[in-house]
Parts: sequence; C-alpha cells; structure tokens
Amino acid sequence: MFESIRVVSGKQSPPEVIVLGVFQGEKLDPASLRYDAQNSVQTALARAEATGEAGRLVEAFVPASKGSTATRRIIIAGLGKKDAFSPGDLRTTAAAIGRRLAQTKEKVVSVELTGPLREVKADAMEGGRAFGEGLGLVGWTCDRFKGKGTDAPKRTSLEVQSTDDTLAAGLGYGLALARSTNLARDLSQTPPNVATPAWMAEQAEKLAKEFGLGFKVFSGKELEKERFAGLINVGKASENKPCMIRLEYIPGGKAKGGSGPVKKKAGNRPETAVLIGKTMTYDTGGLSLKVNNGMVGMKRDKDGGCAVLGAMHAIASTVKPDTPVVALLAAAENSISDEAYRPDDVITYRNGVTVEVTNTDAEGRLVLADALCWACENENPAFIVELSTLTGGVVTALGSTFAGMFCEDDALRHRLEQASAISGERVWRLPMHKEYRDMMKSPIADIVNSNPNRKAHPIQGAAFLYNFVKDGIPFAHIDIAGVHVSDDASGPFVKGPTGWGVRMLADLLAQE
Ligand code: BES
Ligand code: ZN
Ligand code: ZN
Repeated sequence: MFESIRVVSGKQSPPEVIVLGVFQGEKLDPASLRYDAQNSVQTALARAEATGEAGRLVEAFVPASKGSTATRRIIIAGLGKKDAFSPGDLRTTAAAIGRRLAQTKEKVVSVELTGPLREVKADAMEGGRAFGEGLGLVGWTCDRFKGKGTDAPKRTSLEVQSTDDTLAAGLGYGLALARSTNLARDLSQTPPNVATPAWMAEQAEKLAKEFGLGFKVFSGKELEKERFAGLINVGKASENKPCMIRLEYIPGGKAKGGSGPVKKKAGNRPETAVLIGKTMTYDTGGLSLKVNNGMVGMKRDKDGGCAVLGAMHAIASTVKPDTPVVALLAAAENSISDEAYRPDDVITYRNGVTVEVTNTDAEGRLVLADALCWACENENPAFIVELSTLTGGVVTALGSTFAGMFCEDDALRHRLEQASAISGERVWRLPMHKEYRDMMKSPIADIVNSNPNRKAHPIQGAAFLYNFVKDGIPFAHIDIAGVHVSDDASGPFVKGPTGWGVRMLADLLAQE
C-alpha cells in the first residue's frame, strides 16, 4: 500500500494532511479548533454524514498557509462514543485513514489527536502507538511473488508526524511493532517451495546477525544426537529436511553469533523467557492425508514460528527487555513418501515418554514436544509460551475472533491477558482437566497423538503437550489456527496473514 512509512521528529515538512478526531455527538474539542481558522472543519462536521461513529471519516480543506490558494486536507476521524472509547480503537481508525491516504497519494500527514485524547483522559503514548500500529499494519503488502505479468503499482512513501511529542513517540513505537509483525507476515506469505525448514533457519540467522542474537540450528545428525524424535519422524518423508532453530536474546549485550555450542544445563543459565513456535512449512497431513481441499493454505502452518521470529525482531529492535529470551522453532515439512512416518508407529522422546501415532495429521504437537523437552531441560525457563496453528477444532470453536489459550498458571495467564488487551490480539481461555489428559492414554505406548473419538480436539492438543512440560514451569499453549490469517480486509488487516501474536509477545516481554 505504501512504499515505506516513517515517523519524522525534529525538522518536519509542512503536512499535506492533518488528522483530527471527534467523538460521536460531540463538538470539535478546543485544542483542535486551532486548525479551523476558517470554520471549514466545523462546516464539514455539520454535514449529515459526519456522525462521529468509530471509523467514519469526513474531510475538509483549509488553506495550506495564510493567504495561500493551495489547500491542505483535514481528515476528521469519528472516534465513537466518548464513554466507550479506548486508545486501542485508534488502530482501526488509523487503518481507515491509511486506506484513504493510499488513494489520495499525499505523503506527509500530521496526527493531531491530543485534544480528543485529553478529553477522555487517554494516554497519548498508548493512543499514538495504536495509531502507528494501524498505519503500519494496513500498509503491508507482499509483491515479492508478482512477476512480469503484473504492472508494478505506484506507491508513496508516507511521512508521519505530530506536534505532540508523546503522541509522536507512540506513533514510532507502534510503527516499529507493525514492522516486526509485517516480517512475520512476509514469512507466512512465502510459498512452501521457497520457505523450507532450511530457509526458515536462514531467515532466523539473518535476524541474529542484524541484532547480535545467539543463533543455532540443529539438523541432520544433531537431531539424532539430541533425540528430537518428533522432528525426525514428522520430517522424514520430505526432501526438505527438518531442523530445530534456536535464537537467543541477551539483555544489554550481544550473544555469541554463529552456531557455537549452546550452554547446556538449565541451572547454569539465568531465568529465561522461552517462546516456541510450530513451524510446519507445509502440512499435507502425511499418510493421514488431508482431503477435500483441506491442504490449501497449509503453507501457513508455520505461522507460530513466523510470529515467534517477528516477536524476536520486536524484542531485539524495540522492546529490549531486561530478561533473556530464547526462541525455539520446530521446523519440518509434513509430507508423504515411502519414508513417511505412519499411523501405528511408536516414537520415544528424549524425556522418556512414548507416543503412539494414531494420526499423522496431528503432527504439530509431535514436533512441539521436542522443543518443550529441550526448553525444560536446557533453558531454565521462567515461563514458556508456545504458539501454533494446531487444530481446525479451535477455528470451529472460536472462529477468527479469539485465539484459544491454555494456561493453568494464574500469573502467566494474567500477564498474557494484559498483553493481549494492549495489542488487541484476543485470547480466550479453554479448559484443562484430568479427564482430557486421560483421553490421550494409549493402549500400547504412554500416549496417543490424537484420540479418534473426535472430541475436544484443541484440548486434546494441549493435553498432549502437557506431557512434555516439567511440573512447576509456567506454560501457555496458544492455538492460533483461527486468527493467523484474515479472510478479507478488516480492521487494520488486509486479506492474508495477520502476524498474530508478534505484538502480544512483544508486550508480554515489555512487562519485564
Ligand atoms: N495444521 C493443522 C491445523 C490447522 C487447521 C491449521 C486449519 C490451520 C487451519 C493440524 O496439523 C491438523 O491437521 N490438525 C488436525 C488434528 C487432528 C488430526 C487431531 C485437525 O485439527 O483436524
Ligand atoms: Zn496436520
Ligand atoms: Zn499442522
């Protein structure tokens, strides 16, 4: 939509567009009146279309400078009812404005919402941040795979400013988080013939080099050595071999780059936040093959991992928390060949748990189990948050409105809920109970990867994962199968990947 968007502080170009806001049923606030020397804004607001409803835009034109015949566009954004307003609403408002600016092709916009924000005692930093996120998110496009058959679109570079320094700082922070989210969306969009597990590792390495993160990839013999049984089995059928990708952020200092040895023994490490992402670069279902077109879109079965990479980008570039953070991406392609793992196989994990494979399409939990075992043994986790496109069942249950959250640790759950309230990425808690854990028992091994009774699929997934988390380690599993992609342009999103979780994880770590 835009070539680029940047926040300009210091010497600014005169704005071509000024954004003001008005609440439903209210007049223009006193601070905004100074932009309306000739009453054109108030005249515009008198029109019937100017309802002040959230997202409704009305436009007016004022002289660009005193006595000038050139005009400046004023966009007055409806902010909805005063008592129902929350700064996060500006995410959608900004997206509507972004869509308009992409049409008008104007390049310099000044966001002047201090007046209305002050009227409802809303924080200018928070408001600016949501606005920046909205602009940055709606501006995402991915043309990388367009060829000669498509004319290159003309795009403008947008300069965003505000006379309110706090709001401007918020705009900058929001745009930065949107950039990290857009990185995850670019990765998600990349087709599976390009985005193989090795390619995902290269992307992680690029990030590590740019920000001085520790980087290590386990592949080939090292997977055997570390007994990553899930990755080995799920990834067997594909020529694109599986790997475990590890990134490490160390506060205030550069981690050793390259693929040096990873410090083992949890006791020697400081308490570390661990983020885990399912990174299935393609999910055919394996021998339990997906049918009825259920395979289309499964290039996005890596979106848990993409979100975790995006979050590491945000953590290293923007949030810079005081706690160490480790990211683990369990990357494989679930394919078919005569080497494929089969329903009826039994797999032994590094923590000694054995799994009877009942369905090769329940592969995500099998590779996540490796990452969970590794994290509990080697990373000294303060907590583990894992994101995965794990089940179609969560889409049936919650649609695309909430991600399904499993978290039995009250403190971690509270933190996730707080982060989610800020980022607007909604989570809904789903239950865990011994009866669900019992459903996963196997007659021949310890557990099955899926109970064929077709009950409570999202919960079965979580119940399975709990077998690989050491008691006492706070753990959250978030099933993002319903929210990782948007079917149409809505709110700050365009049709396609949403980068769900990047901003929530960034906010989680910003609490440190
Ligand atoms: N990757 C899928 C889940 C999925 C479904 C993601 C729809 C995005 C959109 C996962 O690996 C899967 O196939 N899950 C099965 C589990 C079942 C076999 C127990 C499912 O949900 O049907
Ligand atoms: Zn599957
Ligand atoms: Zn899958």
